[in-house]
Amino acid sequence: MPLKINARQTQPLDLNADVVVMGTWTFPKAKETKADKKKKKDDDKQGTGVAFVDALDRALGGGVSRLIAKEEFTGKKDQTLSVPTLGRLPAAKLVLLGLGDRDKAGPAEVRSFAAKAARIANAEKAKTLVLALPDGLEARLRTVAEGIDLGAYRFTKYLTGDRKPKETLDEVTIASERRFPPDAKRQIALGQAIATGVNVSRDLSNEPPNVMFPMALAKAAQDAGKAHKFKVTVFDDKEIVKRGMQLLHAVGRGSSHPPVLVHMSYVPSKKSKKRYVFVGKGITFDTGGISIKPAQGMGDMKHDMSGAANMVGLMVAVAALKPNIEVHAIMSCAENMPDGNSYRPGDVWGSLDGKSVEIINTDAEGRLVLADALAYAAKELEPDLLVDNATLTGACVVALGTTYSAFYATNADTAQRFAAGVKASGEQMWHMPLIEELREQLKSDTADLKHTGERYGGSITAALFLREFIGKTKNWVHADIAGPAQTDRPYAWHGKGATGHGVLTFLSLVERAGK
Ligand code: BES
Ligand code: MN
Ligand code: ZN
Repeated sequence: MPLKINARQTQPLDLNADVVVMGTWTFPKAKETKADKKKKKDDDKQGTGVAFVDALDRALGGGVSRLIAKEEFTGKKDQTLSVPTLGRLPAAKLVLLGLGDRDKAGPAEVRSFAAKAARIANAEKAKTLVLALPDGLEARLRTVAEGIDLGAYRFTKYLTGDRKPKETLDEVTIASERRFPPDAKRQIALGQAIATGVNVSRDLSNEPPNVMFPMALAKAAQDAGKAHKFKVTVFDDKEIVKRGMQLLHAVGRGSSHPPVLVHMSYVPSKKSKKRYVFVGKGITFDTGGISIKPAQGMGDMKHDMSGAANMVGLMVAVAALKPNIEVHAIMSCAENMPDGNSYRPGDVWGSLDGKSVEIINTDAEGRLVLADALAYAAKELEPDLLVDNATLTGACVVALGTTYSAFYATNADTAQRFAAGVKASGEQMWHMPLIEELREQLKSDTADLKHTGERYGGSITAALFLREFIGKTKNWVHADIAGPAQTDRPYAWHGKGATGHGVLTFLSLVERAGK
C-alpha cells in the first residue's frame, strides 16, 4: 500500500507529526567575498541559509544556530542534525537534512533526499512525517514523492513477533512556505505510481527462492496484469519446446520447477507509432547447475531474477502512466539446478533463432534464456527499441562495482537515446563497448556458437553472444545489472536487498517516446 502523501503551503514548524525533517541546501560559506555576500542576501530573501536558521532560533528560543555551529552542520549532502524540540514545537522530533549544492541537485539527489527522510521516519518508528522542502523543490514534487515511497520501502513479510515492525509510516505531509504548482496532486500521484512499480520489482526479487520459482513469478505477473489491466500471456515448458525455445528449455531441465516464458503487453487506446520491447532474465535461483557455484554467497542468487522482476514493476508503472506507445515486457524464467536431467557442458542445443549453441559452462545460463526471449521479441514484435536487462556477469561487477550497471548498444544513436533516459532517471549506468575482435572467442568447432568466451572481457562477450539473437532488430540495448540489482548496505533511495535498478530508466525511455 502506498503512503498517504499530500502537499501543504505552510510554515512546517507549525505542523504536528512524529518526525519533522527539514531539508536545507548547503549554507553559504562563513568567509565571504563581495559576490558571496550579494548571493547570500538574495538567498535570504528566498528563505534559505541563515533565514531558515533564524526562524528555527525564534521557534525554539535560541540555541539552534549555536548547535549548528558546534556540530558543524553545513547542509552538505546527506548530513543530518537532530535538534531537540523540548516541547516547544508540536512535533516530537526535528531533524535537519542536507541536500548539498542547489545547482548540483539532479533527480538522483532529490529522490535520495526524500528517501533518506522516509528512512529516518522508519528508524524513529514514526507513523507521520512532515518533510519540509528547501526553496526550489516545491517544483519537483514528483521526484520527492518517488523518493518518499522508495525510501519507506521495507521487505518485512517473513518477520514475526518482535521482529515485525510495530509501526509503519502511513502519512507524509510535504510542506513548503512557497506555492506548489497547480498540478501538485497529479505530480504526487505520478511519483507514487512510479515508486509502486519499483517496489513491486523489489518485492518479487526479495522473495526467497523456495517461494519464487518460475511459475510463481508468472503467477505474480498474471495477478499484476489483472490488478493493473495489462495483458499477460504465459508459455509453459510444453509450449516453450513446441515453439523451439530449446535454450530456455535446456537451462530449466535440472529443476523440478519447469521454465516459463511470460509476455506482458500494454497497447494504448490511440493507435501508436512506436513499439518498445523489454526483456528480463528470470533465473529464480542460480546454483550454477552442473558447473556448480561455490557455497559462499550463493543465497544472493535468489536475486538472479531481478531483470524479470523489473519487467513486472515496469508494466505496473506503465499501466498507471498510460503512455502513447506500445510497451511489451518479456520474462524468461527458469531455475538453474544440478540434476540427472540437467543440461551439461559439451551439450549442443538449437535455439529459436535457428543457431546451434555449444554449452561450455552451465553457470552461464542467463545468456541462454535471454537468447530465446530476444529471438522471440525480434520475430514476433519487430521492436523499434529492444532492451534486455539481466544480472548477467560477475565480470561486470568487477568492472564497475556494485552501484553502476553496464549498457551496450548496437549503434551510437541508440546508445545516446538510452543515455538520455539514464540521465533523466538519475540511475547509474555506464556505456560499454561491443568490442568486435572478442567475437572470435565465441567460435565453436561443433556448433554455430560457443556460449562463453574467456574470463577477461566476460561482460562484453556475453553481450556479443546476445547480439547474435536479435535478428533484424536495429536498435538494441543490453543492460548488465549484476552489480546494482541488490545491495547489502542502504544508499541513494535503496534499503538493503533488491533495488529495482533499471525500472526508472526504462520508464523514462517509455515516457520520452510517448511524448
Ligand atoms: N547470475 C550470474 C552472474 C552474477 C554474478 C550475478 C554475481 C550477480 C552477482 C551468472 O549466471 C553467472 O553465473 N555468470 C558467470 C558466467 C561465466 C560462467 C562465464 C560469471 O559471471 O561467473
Ligand atoms: Mn550463472
Ligand atoms: Zn545467473
